[in-house]
Amino acid sequence: MHHISLGFLFAVAGAAANKPDCQLQGNLDMPGISENGDVILGGMFHVHSHRLERIDRFEQSPEQPLCKGSYRLVQTMIFAIEEINRSSTLLPNITIGYKILDDCASSTTATQAALTLANGREELISANDCKGLPNVLAIIGGGGSSQSIAISRTIGPFGMPLISYFSTCACLSNRQEYPAFYRTIPSDYYQSKLLAQLVKRFGWTWIGTVRSNNDYGHFGMEGFLEDIEELGICVAFSVSFSRTDPREKVAEIVQVIKKSTTKVVVVFSAKREMRILLREIVRQNVSGIQWIGSEAWVTAELLTPEESTKFLTGTIGPAIHMAEVIGLREFLLQVHPSATPDNNFVTEFWETTFKCTLLSDNGFESDAAADNPQCTGRESLHGVNNAYSDISMDGSSYNVYKAVYVFAHAVHDMLVCKDGKGPFTNGTCAHISTYEPWQLLHYMQAVNFTTTSGETVYFESSGDPVAIYDLMNWQVNTKGFPEIVNVGYYDASASSGQAIVLNEEGIVWNGGKNKVPRAICSESCLPGTRKVSRKGYPVCCFDCTQCPAGEISNITDALDCIKCPLEYWSNPNKDKCFPKEIEFLSFEETLGIVLVALALEPGHVDFSGSRISWNIIPAKDLQLRLITKDA
Ligand SMILES: *[C@@H]1O[C@H](CO)[C@@H](O)[C@H](O)[C@H]1NC(C)=O
Ligand SMILES: *[C@@H]1O[C@H](CO)[C@@H](O)[C@H](O)[C@H]1NC(C)=O
Ligand SMILES: *[C@@H]1O[C@H](CO)[C@@H](O)[C@H](O)[C@H]1NC(C)=O
Ligand SMILES: *[C@@H]1O[C@H](CO)[C@@H](O)[C@H](O)[C@H]1NC(C)=O
Ligand SMILES: *[C@@H]1O[C@H](CO)[C@@H](O)[C@H](O)[C@H]1NC(C)=O
Ligand SMILES: *[C@@H]1O[C@H](CO)[C@@H](O)[C@H](O)[C@H]1NC(C)=O
Repeated sequence: MHHISLGFLFAVAGAAANKPDCQLQGNLDMPGISENGDVILGGMFHVHSHRLERIDRFEQSPEQPLCKGSYRLVQTMIFAIEEINRSSTLLPNITIGYKILDDCASSTTATQAALTLANGREELISANDCKGLPNVLAIIGGGGSSQSIAISRTIGPFGMPLISYFSTCACLSNRQEYPAFYRTIPSDYYQSKLLAQLVKRFGWTWIGTVRSNNDYGHFGMEGFLEDIEELGICVAFSVSFSRTDPREKVAEIVQVIKKSTTKVVVVFSAKREMRILLREIVRQNVSGIQWIGSEAWVTAELLTPEESTKFLTGTIGPAIHMAEVIGLREFLLQVHPSATPDNNFVTEFWETTFKCTLLSDNGFESDAAADNPQCTGRESLHGVNNAYSDISMDGSSYNVYKAVYVFAHAVHDMLVCKDGKGPFTNGTCAHISTYEPWQLLHYMQAVNFTTTSGETVYFESSGDPVAIYDLMNWQVNTKGFPEIVNVGYYDASASSGQAIVLNEEGIVWNGGKNKVPRAICSESCLPGTRKVSRKGYPVCCFDCTQCPAGEISNITDALDCIKCPLEYWSNPNKDKCFPKEIEFLSFEETLGIVLVALALEPGHVDFSGSRISWNIIPAKDLQLRLITKDA
């Protein structure tokens, strides 16, 4: 059924080129929901998958077949569209409709879904009726980066904008390859920068790194390592592993972590790999590690609450920036199958949430949930505390919300066509009855608006938004449960050095301590000494050796001692040069005792052609001046 014939592909390509004989040859029957409007926004979400795992509170039951976190995203998209439909300033008199399909978290299905949306009509299209094709103007979707890549390649020929809410691969910033790709989630490029600056900020120069063996881990860690090298931070160890590696391999990595001289470990890993690593950490009972995590796992529930408190307390890392979408929670809770009887997403959502079966109009049960009792219709979402209604832990909803507004603002700008001048041939505008996705693309780049929560949304030339992350920290609440607390944020648009804003007092470090852990290979060299590198070790590992007589260093971590100028000599601490004629004698020294015995007031003696004069100075030293008589 989900089969695309070559004929279909050619038909679509023909349509795009406005060939008169274009004809849709097949019909893709994909599960989805739609609503008509003047302009149609496509949506693709992982409704049936576990890919976008739920970010639950810890007290909840295990996952269910329908991915409720994603169903929430579908509802968020509809919520935003309805809000814009009601707006009298944004797209007045224009309604947005939608067509939302399930991409099942697979690139193949995503490609099919994208084609279905790009094609726009499900009925057979007769010859000479290809105008206005496709009628979906843009797509919100691309859960994973690989789906975004697949979708972009599929709909590329249409110039149809794809606005992703979840794809973070830095590779998607390549404008040559993905000219129509936009996203409301920051590129991992910034996450690498953020993590490097975080490490720098806490004065850590000796850290371990772990990455998962996939694009996410590789691209992310590569950027991070480049950044820390520039910052003069050294790597004690750098290891990677795959999900498919034998357990011994993971056990070895945990041994490396355990034996290392640094306790600060930066992990750029996908969630599934991180769970494997942490399981082994628990098994080998390796506590005392200060974890710095990437966004994919740092707010995820990967261990039991007890294990999390013991092994993860103190963990710091970025999370997708989140802001409250006013009214969304109420909207999510009012979903009821009786309101939308032919919405198969709602039906299935209801059945899996309440483990019951809804009777369809003709009295037949849907086969999926046939073993469950009949739904009473009195089930209430208000009593259910799950990832569907819990919008407090995950920024994806906010990103979908922003994506819909990006679309609306672009369409608005396109239809308003300021000053009657457009970007098209002879300065013309797009026309309401004939506009095409590639025309909308012209307006995407210029979108610039402020959300109800006060965040300004616009795109860089790469199609990336301004990178903003929340900074999260694992703490333990009064009940002894792990709690992930917001301790600051990162804003890449701030001037350098100010990008990270942290409430440092609010941070709990590994083991529940309130002091920043140290991560250095060697203590710094005090004035009076210089660094001597250790053979075979990174630059952060060195010994300190005292400056030789006549040389000084007056800064910490001096690379070289400086020779005192002629006629100058170094002091005992080797951090200052003094004129040679000023000598220091201690009370203990014989001459000192003699001189003090001679007189406890300033004076001088002449002998052997030289004159020695002395002063009593407040310290215990006696200052003597040796003046050689003129020859
Ligand atoms: C948009 O508004 C129109 C008119 O009010 C309505 O018919 C349509 O159902 C709305 N669509 C959505 C998706 O809210
Ligand atoms: C919207 O439609 C109303 C009624 O047709 C009209 O009075 C109003 O000017 C329109 N607004 C815009 C912005 O086109
Ligand atoms: C795990 O390590 C901690 C401290 O490092 C120790 O107190 C505890 O007894 C260990 N637990 C097990 C099961 O070995
Ligand atoms: C653009 O304007 C020129 C001069 O007015 C005209 O000759 C030409 O046909 C126009 N091109 C299009 C595509 O309308
Ligand atoms: C976005 O709009 C605001 C206010 O109109 C303006 O100050 C800002 O410079 C704009 N940003 C970009 C990137 O165009
Ligand atoms: C260190 O010594 C040099 C040479 O004597 C001098 O120029 C410099 O100001 C001193 N720096 C400090 C921090 O004392």
